[in-house]
Amino acid sequence: MTNEPSEAQIAVHWREEAYYPPTAKFIAQANAADPDILERFSEPNFPECFKEYADLLSWDKYWHTTLDTTDPPFWKWFVGGRLNACYNCVDRHLTTSRNRAALIWVPEPESEQTSAITYQELYRRVNEFAALLRDFGGVRTGDRVTFHLPMVPELPVSMLACARLGVIHSEVFGGFSGAACGGRVADSGSNILVTMDGYYRNGELVDHKVKADEAVATARELGHEVDKVLVWRRHPNSYASKSPMVEGRDFFIDDLLPDFRGAVVEPVSMPAEAPLFLMYTSGTTGRPKGCQHSTGGYLAYVAGTSKYYQDIHPEDTYWCAADIGWITGHSYIVYGPLALGTTSVLYEGVPTYPDPGRLWRIAERLGVNIFHTAPTTIRMLRKVGPDESAKYRYRFKHMTTVGEPIEPEVWRWYHDVVGKGEAAIVDTWWQTETGGFLGSTLPALQPMKPGSCGPGVLGIYPVIYDEDGETIEAGSDRAGNICIRNPWPGIFQTIWGQPERFVDIYYSKYNRRNSTDWQDWPYFAGDGAVQAADGYFRILGRVDDVINVAGHRLGTKELESAALTVNEIAEAAAVPVMDEVRGRAVEMYVALKPGLSAGAGIEAKVSEAIVREIGKIARPKSVWIVTDMPKTRSGKIMRRVIAGISNFTDVGDVTTLANPEIVDDIRHHVQSEKLTRGEVPRDLSPQEAEEIKSFGRAE
Ligand code: WTA
Repeated sequence: MTNEPSEAQIAVHWREEAYYPPTAKFIAQANAADPDILERFSEPNFPECFKEYADLLSWDKYWHTTLDTTDPPFWKWFVGGRLNACYNCVDRHLTTSRNRAALIWVPEPESEQTSAITYQELYRRVNEFAALLRDFGGVRTGDRVTFHLPMVPELPVSMLACARLGVIHSEVFGGFSGAACGGRVADSGSNILVTMDGYYRNGELVDHKVKADEAVATARELGHEVDKVLVWRRHPNSYASKSPMVEGRDFFIDDLLPDFRGAVVEPVSMPAEAPLFLMYTSGTTGRPKGCQHSTGGYLAYVAGTSKYYQDIHPEDTYWCAADIGWITGHSYIVYGPLALGTTSVLYEGVPTYPDPGRLWRIAERLGVNIFHTAPTTIRMLRKVGPDESAKYRYRFKHMTTVGEPIEPEVWRWYHDVVGKGEAAIVDTWWQTETGGFLGSTLPALQPMKPGSCGPGVLGIYPVIYDEDGETIEAGSDRAGNICIRNPWPGIFQTIWGQPERFVDIYYSKYNRRNSTDWQDWPYFAGDGAVQAADGYFRILGRVDDVINVAGHRLGTKELESAALTVNEIAEAAAVPVMDEVRGRAVEMYVALKPGLSAGAGIEAKVSEAIVREIGKIARPKSVWIVTDMPKTRSGKIMRRVIAGISNFTDVGDVTTLANPEIVDDIRHHVQSEKLTRGEVPRDLSPQEAEEIKSFGRAE
């Protein structure tokens, strides 16, 4: 805790936006069109309301206890139940829909064929790969397997194969570096790494296998040995990587699969609380957090929210253009849609390749009627191809925006131009930790409001607390920390291997007493928010030291420790800078070791180190070399001060710093250079200014 003013004490103001009602046509076909549903999920019916979600699944053994709270905050859902996630996403659809496309895969090169994978075909592929993992890989129920896979059908196949065996998968976003992957391999204790030789990105067949070698080396440095690297080939029988295959360690999956042709692997019946997967995310310290998600609760939650909030019917063609390497893809490309037996589209490449009309061509050709993406993509398409969507004859009944706050202007463009004024939009607020949506409008029942996600979703009761744990009332125009008062089935179970950190980060702040009453354990989401009088929430962004770049969470500590791998660097600080397309970008401030002076490409070295340790998404917009960092008397770097300089905003009171004189030096150096480069500052909204002003205050 610091003495900084908290968001809760600062009034925020913005213009109230007008509502947009959904069309009558949308309402007439919606899964949730009867307002009764709001009553069924109201607080007096908690937790039994979630039976409705659990009943969307096929259970091997039905559960006896909806929610067990005896070991808070380690909640257990659907206790006594057993099921298999792969069976639920694949096998059970075979009787009615074996020939329906489960996945439609669109490769990035337009010269390559789009392929439809039916439920029957998916069943075959998953069984064969499950047999390979078990009999060749030697994995057993409860083991962890790490994937470092791009957007190819082999990724959902690999996930479902693990799920079939009760093996915990941990997919690392393909764009992450080998080193970042290796850290996650070691943390999860995976003996097997599944990767691919290459994939297409922006017209280039990138070498991906090389990252597996780095990952294995990093894991080894951390004291963990990888036994086998299993390599899918992007084009079977033709190896696209320059990285040599290591004898006895690396194997081509397409070479091994013929031995498993026709294999059938019985789905392992798992307890509802058995972990299904890990998904690593950034937090307040350097070590990434492996969010552990459950089998029964998670699957029930993503199936239920996919049905009511994505409005998925089995006959729909649903396209979430996120990456499966993020939680959005796990929940709303793979598990939710497939549990409902619909058709889910997978696209390999970048949205603007080879031109800004690409997404709409795909949508038109495949007859996509539900579309899901992030504000960063929307902002980019609005910038580079504002007239493209009008050229194509697709029709979306429903669209989603996820992952970052969306500006009302951008929202309106999404609605009017991409959605052609017809599509119902949901702005879904949630997190890696939460498994599924937390805040959204129910598309047929609650009108949209640009810039606000809406109220808590069914069975989620959010609240905004100030720093002292007092409730900030709706309509008070005051911001605070958004929390969820109750457990829900999709909540992660723990941080893999770090249960104390789990309790500490998410519950200690507002935990009231050590009781088994869930009411005493609100979930602290780490986001600032304001609630309007109508109950809709507007999410303002992270209150911890996480920078949301294009919807990707980057921890300041991770960025800084990457910078510190450069020999010359003594101190580093990462701050967000407003970015027209990506929402936020990263700027690094570094101070050199004594006796060294700038030059010799130190900026480039810092950038390269960050790309190597984390990945290209983290590449800083600028690296500033400073003689010293502004610091408190106790020696803490004041990130808010340098964030203010980077964003041309008021740096606030600096008189209490140990070295206030440094501030003007840094400001002069950085801002004059920015102006020379033509990086003209724009005026920040009050919320953005507040974010900058309080950046880093979590320390
Ligand atoms: C932010 C992504 C505003 C938020 C699913 C959250 C959002 C973090 C929204 C989680 C939204 C997510 N409006 N902000 N609709 N959705 N966020 O874990 O700060 O990658 O805490 O999960 O993204 O990012 P994560």
